[in-house]
Amino acid sequence: MKITTVGRGNIGGGLGKLWAAAGHEVTALGRDGGDVASAEAVLIAVPGAAVEAALAGLGGLEGKTVIDATNLIGAEPPAAFASNAEFIKSQTGGPTAKSFNLNFAALFDRLASTTERPGNLWCGDEEARDVVEQLIRDAGYDPIYAGGLENAGVSEQFLTLMFAINQGGLGSFFYRMAPADQF
Ligand SMILES: NC(=O)c1ccc[n+]([C@@H]2O[C@H](COP(=O)([O-])OP(=O)(O)OC[C@H]3O[C@@H](n4cnc5c(N)ncnc54)[C@H](OP(=O)(O)O)[C@@H]3O)[C@@H](O)[C@H]2O)c1
Repeated sequence: MKITTVGRGNIGGGLGKLWAAAGHEVTALGRDGGDVASAEAVLIAVPGAAVEAALAGLGGLEGKTVIDATNLIGAEPPAAFASNAEFIKSQTGGPTAKSFNLNFAALFDRLASTTERPGNLWCGDEEARDVVEQLIRDAGYDPIYAGGLENAGVSEQFLTLMFAINQGGLGSFFYRMAPADQF
């Protein structure tokens, strides 16, 4: 798959490396922006407050399948939107998913050596399912579906709990959710 990551830091750069290792063709953009017209999937991995500026620097976004990995740390989504992901969809009109916001980039290097695959939550459009679930798997996680894009705001808020667990003593952690018969 041709993937463009908008953001090439911990998340964009880290996932780009995992996806390239899985055979994908990855292009990474930074704050200078660029064109995403040839991408089959676009990952948004910029600071949560920079989403509007980041999208303004991109060409070829219309109709694109986008995965939004941003979190809103001390920031709000653009006015009138409940989440960054819903704002992004308003700009692209394409299939949109929220994922990779509830994981620790610091653990990406550990994914290749886990005894069980960790989970990775995603929510979003049904039309984005095939792409987002493949890219979650190809990064080394099992996808956990958490409803439509209207849940993106809750997903962005969930970071508060992730941080509390992190600070509560677990540090950076993986999680897994599965039916009872798998435990
Ligand atoms: N770090 C984590 O473990 C983690 C986990 C889950 C979610 N997240 C979320 O993922 C996002 C990225 O986090 P990160 O840790 O990867 O950040 P980071 O390492 O600081 O990287 C940020 C990237 O965003 C780019 N950027 C900044 N402003 C931009 C703009 N206006 N337009 C386009 N690109 C811009 C930077 O471009 P340049 O390369 O040009 O400087 C850089 O490549 C954040 O929303 C964060 O909350 C992070």
